[in-house]
Amino acid sequence: MKELQAYIRREGVVLSEHVLKVNSFLNHQVNPSLVMSIGENFAARFRGEDITKVMTVEASGIHFAFATALSMGVPFIYAKKTKAITQDNGVYTASTYSFTRQQTYQITVSKDFLSSADRVLIIDDILAEGASVKGLREIIDAAGAKLMGVGVVIEKSFQSGRKSLDEAGIPVHALARIAAMSPDEGITFLED
Ligand code: G4P
Ligand code: NA
Ligand code: NA
Repeated sequence: MKELQAYIRREGVVLSEHVLKVNSFLNHQVNPSLVMSIGENFAARFRGEDITKVMTVEASGIHFAFATALSMGVPFIYAKKTKAITQDNGVYTASTYSFTRQQTYQITVSKDFLSSADRVLIIDDILAEGASVKGLREIIDAAGAKLMGVGVVIEKSFQSGRKSLDEAGIPVHALARIAAMSPDEGITFLED
């Protein structure tokens, strides 16, 4: 997505060879019209798949899941990272290890909102090691639902997340694919 790549070049800050800061337009301050275009792009890619639910993990996947779900005319679910007292019983839980934060956390989704009839599209902001997607896949499997694809705004192609999804045969649509980056050389995109 050209408009997104332009934003990343203009406003993204490469902190290291592994970390890209995009908090002026994607995950702290947010540009809503860019988010809506992103949602329309994901929706167009997966429109033929009879998606019934869009899923993400709180917090920074939520606005992209919203925009995608709005464009597709289906609900979206965001998995919670903290267990609410009201969802103690009927929840699906997955344990997720975050490489970036070097900690394990639980994500939960109420059993009320996911069933074997669902055809799910996962949406997230950044695909790195694929930890959040892996957790969501476990929950989708536990519900007997079908994962139809994964849409990510930014993929760091040099990390392992994309490779493991390709190996599992899961269709991935990444709007900006970063082959390499460094504070000195800047960002090299892969063309999808
Ligand atoms: P994953 O993103 O593929 O799941 O792998 P990883 O466990 O490595 O990432 C942990 C968190 O760090 C994720 O946020 C992810 O979006 C974020 N992250 C990874 N690489 C970068 C990066 O280069 N730049 C930025 N800005 N974030 C990165 P999260 O745990 O889902 O938290 P939240 O931000 O959604 O609350
Ligand atoms: Na995220
Ligand atoms: Na994040």
